[in-house]
Amino acid sequence: MTLPIGVLVSGSGSNLQSIIDRIAEGTLDAEVRVVISNKSGAYGLERAAQAGIPTRVLQHGDYPSREEFDADMVSVLRDHGVKAVVMAGFMRIITPVFLNAFPERVINIHPALLPSFPGVDGQGDAAEYGVKIAGCTVHFVDEKMDHGPVVIQAAVPAQAGEGREELAERILKMEHRILPQAVQWLAEDRVALNGRHVHIKDQGRKKAEQEKDFPSLVSPALEEGF
Ligand code: GRF
Repeated sequence: MTLPIGVLVSGSGSNLQSIIDRIAEGTLDAEVRVVISNKSGAYGLERAAQAGIPTRVLQHGDYPSREEFDADMVSVLRDHGVKAVVMAGFMRIITPVFLNAFPERVINIHPALLPSFPGVDGQGDAAEYGVKIAGCTVHFVDEKMDHGPVVIQAAVPAQAGEGREELAERILKMEHRILPQAVQWLAEDRVALNGRHVHIKDQGRKKAEQEKDFPSLVSPALEEGF
């Protein structure tokens, strides 16, 4: 069944684009019904328009409270028949008003291996800390920032002396793979949530494919004898 989704953006919208592209190529069984941005200049709005997707700008500064902002987002999403919501570079914390409208159906992409480096600059914080393995996470959203149950993570090796931008670019490439994958699992109704633990049902049949697509990474490479 095709999953009707809404996508929330604040910026460039490259993760939105990865969803649009997967749908177009027929590997993602979803339909983006509406894209909402809290910033009027977000390039993600242009990407949506180019794909013929309806857009709405709701500027959080126009609302007296987070709850009222969320209530308006919920009504736009409901008006478009949305059943699941993807936060793709959306830089706002959402409240129970929003979460209760789409229980267990709001996911977010974060550019770090949570619970390490939550916050607005996960890639920069990881680069500055000097980690050897960075990465990205798709998780269910709860009331705390970058906190809900993890759906999928990908590891990306970080190199000594590498700047934030180079690392962010390589992490972003993996974001563009794991986010559509998570949406597809939702579309196939294969995501089971048990407390903090997310189980992807019936994974055996796709395991070989998954191992090819998402290899484990160890960096730097282990040397002989280890
Ligand atoms: C991505 O790294 C996303 O995870 C972060 O913002 C960056 C830009 O994403 N939250 P996008 O190009 O707007 O999808």
